[in-house]
Amino acid sequence: MAVFPQLRLRRLRRTESLRALVRENRVNIGDLVYPLFVVEGEGIRQEVSSMPGVFRFSPDQVAQEAQEVARLGIPAVLLFGIPEHKDEFGSGAYHPEGIIQQAIRTIKESSPQLLVITDVCLCEYTSHGHCGMVANGDVDNDQTLPLLARMALAHVQAGADIVAPSDMMDGRVKAIREALDKEGFQHIPILSYAAKYASAFYGPFREAAQSTPQFGDRRSYQMDPPNLREALREVEQDINEGADIIMIKPALAYLDVIRRVRDTFNCPVAAYNVSGEYAMVKAAVLQGWLDEKRIVMEILASIKRAGADIIITYHARDVAQWLQA
Ligand code: PBG
Repeated sequence: MAVFPQLRLRRLRRTESLRALVRENRVNIGDLVYPLFVVEGEGIRQEVSSMPGVFRFSPDQVAQEAQEVARLGIPAVLLFGIPEHKDEFGSGAYHPEGIIQQAIRTIKESSPQLLVITDVCLCEYTSHGHCGMVANGDVDNDQTLPLLARMALAHVQAGADIVAPSDMMDGRVKAIREALDKEGFQHIPILSYAAKYASAFYGPFREAAQSTPQFGDRRSYQMDPPNLREALREVEQDINEGADIIMIKPALAYLDVIRRVRDTFNCPVAAYNVSGEYAMVKAAVLQGWLDEKRIVMEILASIKRAGADIIITYHARDVAQWLQA
């Protein structure tokens, strides 16, 4: 057994070539998913104030943005719709001419090879801002399921490649799988937000998506942040209901959850580096307090090291540019 002075761990760190040779984890452009916000109207490209560098696009503009994302080699986008009209049932979510359905069509027309993943959740479409149907002041699980299934089906009919339910209702993966299969979409994968925590890190997203709940909060359906074992039950439930890829969200404060899920299950694991994580980095960078490229690459490497295969991140565009340079 070699010990110091024969053993010197610094030998393999001496040059960048040596470090690259023994590097254990790499962030690849092919691992990244870029989220896009779509609003109604035309010619709109409006920056989200708490997320510098992130914009809300009208359907005509989002197609251009998606082309640029594809050109950079990013394999997938995740779409969020912000409808003008909201109601109690979130009916814009499953209307054939809904905002996301329009966006999917224009993106698939101009960038057919780019994977279009859609967020399936009612919160942006309901007048009360909750992720499901409200009955007697509470979010009703079972009444929400058929609406989510209709929404997922509408996305797939418009051309979505993958649907990603983020509502945290029990049984939604099964309901969506059945609805898709019944209509001949057996080949469409479900990426479930399996372990989604009730997190303060979603703050900037709610500004971007105008989806803040009008009463109460999401703690009766999203997970309690201190829990780890429960995340394994959530993931197991979604896999049993037919999820093809499972997601942990947020990423940074939940790296231990990513690791445990990776070690316990064999399906692909995605992690969502959410809006608040992005906003913290951007705020410090704009103050000149942090080196953006180094900090972002270190954060994304930590998510890969924790065991994620896929990273959904608002930094994806920048990262793709850095990796290509
Ligand atoms: C919809 C949804 C949210 C996010 C993704 N899908 C917000 C929420 O649950 O309140 C958050 C994404 C982010 O913060 O970047 N339910």
